[in-house]
Amino acid sequence: MTSSDLPAILGGTPLRTAGPPGWPRPLPEVLEVLTQAMQDGRWGHYEGPHGEQLRARLAELHGVEHAWLCSSGTAAVELGLRGVGVQPGDEVILAAYDFKANFQDVLAIGAIPVLVDINVSGQLDTDQLEAARTPQTKAVLASHLHGAMVDMPAVRVWADKHTIAVVEDVCQMPGARVGGRVAGTWGDAGILSFGGSKLLTAGRGGAVVCRSPQVLERIRRFVLRGNDVSPLTELQAAILLPQIARLSDDNRQRTETVSLLRGHLTAIPGLVPLRTDVTDAEPGYYKLGCWYDPQDWQGLSREHWCAALQHEGIAFFPGFRALHKIHAPRRFRAVGTLPQATRADERLVVLHHPILLEGEPGVLQICRGLQRIQRHAAEVRDQCARRPPGLPAESL
Ligand SMILES: Cc1ncc(COP(=O)(O)O)c(C=O)c1O
Repeated sequence: MTSSDLPAILGGTPLRTAGPPGWPRPLPEVLEVLTQAMQDGRWGHYEGPHGEQLRARLAELHGVEHAWLCSSGTAAVELGLRGVGVQPGDEVILAAYDFKANFQDVLAIGAIPVLVDINVSGQLDTDQLEAARTPQTKAVLASHLHGAMVDMPAVRVWADKHTIAVVEDVCQMPGARVGGRVAGTWGDAGILSFGGSKLLTAGRGGAVVCRSPQVLERIRRFVLRGNDVSPLTELQAAILLPQIARLSDDNRQRTETVSLLRGHLTAIPGLVPLRTDVTDAEPGYYKLGCWYDPQDWQGLSREHWCAALQHEGIAFFPGFRALHKIHAPRRFRAVGTLPQATRADERLVVLHHPILLEGEPGVLQICRGLQRIQRHAAEVRDQCARRPPGLPAESL
């Protein structure tokens, strides 16, 4: 064995000595906006032209009438649910594999989460919706996750048939398309996040996009209490605008890189990327989710596999915890036994997005890292059993 072949977790040299690429990038156009804001004092203003412009730009991007800015994607999900009229005692259907805060947002309203299973793409299984429906069903909350997409045309047809509202969470993929439309516009409310790791970032922040003035009015009435309870600042709005200007180019670059990576991954057993099975879809890549099978890695646990890749400077993380696994059963209703969501809880891994802007060199490094770990999987497994590495954090 050459020392250059030894995985970093076993003492070899990391493939990426400087670690994974940082995020956000130091964009000159953001620096320009910050300098300008410092000069004209807008950095300290409650409201101003940038907030106005951002609302207009988000509405335009989604082809809708309204955009409401707020302090996070988590706040935006709650506002979206309130905007479509969810009230205490109502039921909201969501996937049992989803971002934890989405479940908590339903509870925050006093509504009841109804969990349905996911499909092999890791997305809400629309075939389960009918079994979840009761007279109390008020809304379905559909999140596009980990580089694959929910079948929104199917959600919309079903929801319209039963007069159920749709909240579409595009926090992980602004600017994506599904069923020939911009993602977020199949919902009565579309949800965006501008959190620190997100494709569009202001450190924190979120937005709700919608067509209906009624949805907007419900949000306004909830949020405005003499003051806005979950505001986005003028400075945050200012730094988001130049990022939106380059979003479609960045999305294109990430998509090209993922398609290259998919080609290489066919030669690596035990790691199968999620794939969208909806027609006319162009997913976004905040994360690329993959099914991990420890059997093809000498029984190396998913957590230790992620730790080994992280030692190489490649940012793989375990996916979300499934919602039925981390909440008391009295807090939700489940449809069936949720086998796919349980499998996702144990088997999904996600690659964090910044490396996707590096193109082919990044792909080749990922593949070298995977091959290294695969060749030494048994040793990594045994060493991690003897001396457990720090476990990788749960992914956002
Ligand atoms: C699918 C999804 N929805 C909602 C959120 C919440 O966004 P925020 O972190 O801005 O609160 C996230 C955050 O990662 C997410 O992935």
